Amino acid sequence: MRTRSKYRKSTNLCCNSWSRCCTPAVLWSLIGCLLLLHLYSYILHEDRDGRLSQLHVTHHPQFRELQQLEDEDVQIPPPRGKRSPRAAKRRPKRAAGNDSNYYYPGRIWLDTDGNPIQAHGGGILYDKGSRTYYWYGEYKDGPTYHVHKEGPARVDIIGVGCYSSKDLWTWKHEGIVLAAEETDETHDLHKSNVLERPKVIYNEKTGKYVMWMHVDDGNYTKAAVGVAISDTPDGPFDYLGSQRPHGCESRDMTVFKDEDGMAYLIYSSEDNSELHIGPLTEDYLNVTPTMRRILVGQHREAPALFKHRGTYYMITSGCTGWAPNEALAHAADSVLGPWETIGNPCIVGNNMFRLTTFFAQSTFVLPLPGFQGLFIFMADRWNPADLRDSRYVWLPLVVAGPVDQPLEYTFEFPLWSRVSIYWHRKWRLPQGWTGLKLFM
Ligand code: GAL
Repeated sequence: MRTRSKYRKSTNLCCNSWSRCCTPAVLWSLIGCLLLLHLYSYILHEDRDGRLSQLHVTHHPQFRELQQLEDEDVQIPPPRGKRSPRAAKRRPKRAAGNDSNYYYPGRIWLDTDGNPIQAHGGGILYDKGSRTYYWYGEYKDGPTYHVHKEGPARVDIIGVGCYSSKDLWTWKHEGIVLAAEETDETHDLHKSNVLERPKVIYNEKTGKYVMWMHVDDGNYTKAAVGVAISDTPDGPFDYLGSQRPHGCESRDMTVFKDEDGMAYLIYSSEDNSELHIGPLTEDYLNVTPTMRRILVGQHREAPALFKHRGTYYMITSGCTGWAPNEALAHAADSVLGPWETIGNPCIVGNNMFRLTTFFAQSTFVLPLPGFQGLFIFMADRWNPADLRDSRYVWLPLVVAGPVDQPLEYTFEFPLWSRVSIYWHRKWRLPQGWTGLKLFM
């Protein structure tokens, strides 16, 4: 009895201590298991959703249409300055023609007032607050002239043009949101200087819209970046000043805002022989001391950065002034590099078109919300005889499939996919893309 009771006592003791020690342990293990299960199903769900939207994209009939190769003999119309006076007088065809929502790369594109859009070397900001796209670019509606016989063609600074749209196709002119300085010759934005490639990003922390741009003198020797700021996307922007970032020359440039809110400045430097990239300060108004030299010795400019499934991609042009040249795509695991060149992204039957980026130069790549892997490639078809008549070449850009060129860093498993820009004389966004609530 005693033994039993002792035994009972000891088992009771054991049970008590078991329940004291083990119950929480079992409970915690159960909670842990549940959490793991939850996490697993979440990842599965995420992955499936990702794959589904990818599938949705590649199996969408219109998407496949966007990937079709147009093997026609592409004819470039002579620039307006060289056309017959009768042809020049003819009223320009509206970009849309009779077919609603079609893009016609290289044709004159009118705003909602019926005037040709002036947003060259530009970029697009999606403003979540107003659910509106804002397109900013060089307003070049002035006479083209040369300061020196040998110098590049130029138009005096007029300012940064801004257009708004809900559908990326009809654009309302919001005016000149940063204007040239007419009288003060010492001002960066005096009309005799250069203001190119303006790009705007929104800073969630400060609630400000921040514009970065290339500012230069007429001979491109100042080689600096300027910053301007506004409370609203449609301006007016206040000009804050210019600098040589990291003490280096800066010509063609862009800014890129990552998903974590960090923003980066990317610029051509060292006589355009390399690109530099560095993070901006939290308020996006300055650069930080960190800077990496990338694509060293490759002589690239007109950078346009974008991100797909954790990988960074960039399209650049060669350095031939207003004349077109071959585009290249580059990829990196980390935005600060190393960046690897993965080849010419242009897909078109006509080789001349392929080697000249469809007679255009990159300026921006816009992700298309709701369609993973589908982007709009934005480029400028410059007309150095009459710069105001430069045209926009917008084309579908797809990230999918393996790269088709031997890679430089063979010791690493290449994580990136092929970047393809498909030529179309006429194309439109997949139907219903605006109906997707994902980004609204
Ligand atoms: C290009 C540059 C343009 C403009 C032009 C002037 O190389 O991409 O933005 O600066 O030179 O010739």
